[in-house]
Amino acid sequence: VYIASDKIIIFSLYKKSVFPPQMKVKDQHFETIWIHPADPYVVQIIDQRYLPFRFVVEDLRTMEDVFRAIRDMHLRGAPLIGVAGALGMYLALTGWDAMAGPDDLKRIATMLKGARPTAVNLAWALDRMADALTDAGNHEEQIRLARETALNILAMERENSRLIGTYGLQLIAGMHGGHHEPVQILTHCNAGWLACIDYGTALAPVYMAHDSGIPVHVWVDETRPRNQGARLTAWELKQHGIPCTVITDNAGGYLMMRRMVDMVIVGSDRASVYGDVVNKVGTYLKALAAHDNGIPFYAALPSSTIDPVLGEGAMDTVIEERDGREVRNAEGWMNGQIGEVNLIPEDTQVSNYGFDISPARLVTAFITERGIVQANKTDILNLFPEKNLNPGV
Ligand code: MRU
Repeated sequence: VYIASDKIIIFSLYKKSVFPPQMKVKDQHFETIWIHPADPYVVQIIDQRYLPFRFVVEDLRTMEDVFRAIRDMHLRGAPLIGVAGALGMYLALTGWDAMAGPDDLKRIATMLKGARPTAVNLAWALDRMADALTDAGNHEEQIRLARETALNILAMERENSRLIGTYGLQLIAGMHGGHHEPVQILTHCNAGWLACIDYGTALAPVYMAHDSGIPVHVWVDETRPRNQGARLTAWELKQHGIPCTVITDNAGGYLMMRRMVDMVIVGSDRASVYGDVVNKVGTYLKALAAHDNGIPFYAALPSSTIDPVLGEGAMDTVIEERDGREVRNAEGWMNGQIGEVNLIPEDTQVSNYGFDISPARLVTAFITERGIVQANKTDILNLFPEKNLNPGV
């Protein structure tokens, strides 16, 4: 049931509806990563390199398998990378025949952190794992603890996404205001369930709005060079029956000018306590266009994405620079398999920064698992006091 105008009433009605809307592939519920039901020494993932053309599940048996899967983007998205790193440490320990000491744990964490530098969730999860495992009494207990801690991180990220969805839903409901037209939401890259465990970050509110009967339509930035928007976001929205339209990365500004976008919701790979948002390259340009057109720009992110040591402006973020081949070439489906074509000659000089920074002044608010918070230090630290490294100051 949808009742207009009073957001609080609307929200309490929504809470009675059918949540959680677990994400499905052809009617079967899937999360993005899990331990093999019949073999505890195997971690399984959806290999995202084949989407949207094929649905492939990959077995990971060693820490090296996990490292490669993260580095080469068989899986990607900040919360998912964090969980994969944690399960990678679990797999590493299952391959040892003695207990790993604190230095060994640090070495494993450092090695896995090296797979991708920008999403802070990877380092966050691995540090949590190393801390939890230091006090194990023996090898078996350490493996048990590793499995338990990794699965706790997974469960926490799933719940974070669900809560982000319920808070973000209020914003979409408020924007809809009981009118008949769909709420027009623009998003960049993929911050859906494929980037997380279930639900997503930026897309969780969209799923919950749709499941609550609020009409939504999503403008999906294609997100060159790897096209996570066109290949992943459009696919997962379509699986859920949500209307969406893929646009070229440069079209969003014009759509905003034409009032064809009501709100922008993006994810984040690292955010500062000052409210700055590091996200897939191209996000900043959308934030600028949204600001210029008076359109709200939200970053949906779990607290594992807030980096307490990041400085104001977030310019100290290590921005991943990826292989120039991704820029020179385009990947697609040909002759029954994924193939690449050259867009430009191989000897053309290119650069491939993977992320950019949207400064706090362009960010309307964060949508987090604890609620919606203005993008400034006072409000963020009030909501997340554990991110305050200088509580006395
Ligand atoms: O390079 P990717 O695909 O791992 O980039 C991460 C992202 O998908 C986005 O930047 C996303 O918006 C944040 S992760 C939910």
